[in-house]
Amino acid sequence: MPSPLLIAQLSDPHIGTGPAFLGGRMDTEAALRRAVAHVAALQPAPDLVLLTGDLTDRGTAAEYAVVADALAPLGMPVYAVPGNHDDPTVARNALRRCMPVAPDAPAGACCYTLRVGGLHLIALDTVVPRQSHGALQPDQLAWLARALDARRGEPVLLFMHHPPLPTGIEAMDACSLMEGADALAALVRGHGQVQGLLCGHLHRAVQMQFGGAPLHVAPSVAHQIALDLRPGAPLHARLEPPKISLHRWSPLHGLCTHLSYVEPFGPMIPL
Ligand SMILES: [Fe+2]
Repeated sequence: MPSPLLIAQLSDPHIGTGPAFLGGRMDTEAALRRAVAHVAALQPAPDLVLLTGDLTDRGTAAEYAVVADALAPLGMPVYAVPGNHDDPTVARNALRRCMPVAPDAPAGACCYTLRVGGLHLIALDTVVPRQSHGALQPDQLAWLARALDARRGEPVLLFMHHPPLPTGIEAMDACSLMEGADALAALVRGHGQVQGLLCGHLHRAVQMQFGGAPLHVAPSVAHQIALDLRPGAPLHARLEPPKISLHRWSPLHGLCTHLSYVEPFGPMIPL
């Protein structure tokens, strides 16, 4: 039996917000560097790292240069999808190895496939230019259908930025995946071996079911969105402890998702 695969998911670092962000209380570059140091120190080391979007805040080349420098300590492969705060073209130019766009990807879409151990990974690009909500257009859904068909009977993990389901945080639900969610759910259900979908965007850890598969939304490595389920609640950030998601996948048991706090909470206490 092969050893389980470990996948560290880091989301929404928003590099480039500037020193005045959140009243000067959030330094996103420092937050990303702390998260990277946390991942680099994990034992056993993750087999790969996935970044689920909003790598930067404004999508500039200078911001991606900071992202690339911050990721440099990671010894394992790193793959990324863009979020609504990214510029997918600038991101691909700056982080080419992290975004190996498939030769047959629909024009302009940062989607690709990987195989790591016994698991296939499929990256989807949900960005709608200059919009905060996401979409999967028919050409990308057709590409995904072909990719899933080619991997029928084999385990597949999908990752993308915008969650395709509401969470009850209304202001974020209004800018989730607004097009293509039903078709995506049908593809997931029809394949039957999709082990999970990994998303970002929400800046909170959430677990759901989608098309019969587990759907995990990772927290941000920087600032979180306040948990407020009141109808019409305004959107607030909160400086909750930053976390990463650590997924342990095995062919026999599927996906097990842990949340790992970036900051230590005191020493280990023997039991
Ligand atoms: Fe974000």
